[in-house]
Amino acid sequence: MELAHRPIGVFDSGVGGLTVFHALKRRLPHESMVYFGDRARCPYGDRDPREVARFALEIGRYLERLGVKLLVVACNTATAVALPRLREELAIDVVGVIEPGASQAVQASETGRIGVIGTSVTVASHAYADALRSLRPDVCVTEVACPLFVPLVEQGHVDGEAVEAVVRDSLRPLLQERIDTLVLGCTHYPLLMPVIRRVLGPAIRVISSADATAARVAELLAERGLEAPRGHEGDACFLTTGDTASLRMALATWFGEVPGERAVRHVSLPISDQPLQRTAP
Ligand code: DGL
Repeated sequence: MELAHRPIGVFDSGVGGLTVFHALKRRLPHESMVYFGDRARCPYGDRDPREVARFALEIGRYLERLGVKLLVVACNTATAVALPRLREELAIDVVGVIEPGASQAVQASETGRIGVIGTSVTVASHAYADALRSLRPDVCVTEVACPLFVPLVEQGHVDGEAVEAVVRDSLRPLLQERIDTLVLGCTHYPLLMPVIRRVLGPAIRVISSADATAARVAELLAERGLEAPRGHEGDACFLTTGDTASLRMALATWFGEVPGERAVRHVSLPISDQPLQRTAP
């Protein structure tokens, strides 16, 4: 198949990367996409970083063999620990979510006091602090791990009193730091946006890297001459190592997306032993 007609690969540990998938779909409706959620091994955020890097490479290689023209690592944890390795090992372009999110935060912040929330692995890597400082050396960055958020989202709990109590408790250290901008350094967190905004109040800007990542992908496809032709109607295929029913449920509940029968498929572990999903676009 001609390279420009091939799909974009997008992956995450679970449903969080769907926030990036949807930003891509809004921005690039002509592009086809293959989404991969490694739900059987989610969460990544409390694992050994070497294990996360191994999973990321396994999925990256699988999607490359499937024929994607570009890979979006729609997972901050995998971006933090595996982006250089993925770029080294794969022949296709690889876009992560940290650099686009950091550059949007630097533009948004007036005081330079920026908070970052993410998984334990992302926070321990200081990948955001490094990216923010490389763009604006005088920023004051406070990074806080929120390990309870991903399990809440994966179980479908995104609002209500109990969720708000967890969010309030987790964000308290940031409020004390007088930040003016908060980066959602995990692609699951935008699904908690209404609660996060309620807890933070209107004065703090909240940055999700989804739109900035989609803009970067659009730029890169144009630079490489890899954009799908305007008349092309983009389609989507969803792969999961977990159960297809709960992925369908998440797609319908949060994004109003009801894919066709064959567009949602299970991939067994280990991924490297799997035959390719021949129905992928
Ligand atoms: N959504 C991912 C991230 O952006 C991973 C969350 C997890 O699996 O812990 O970091």
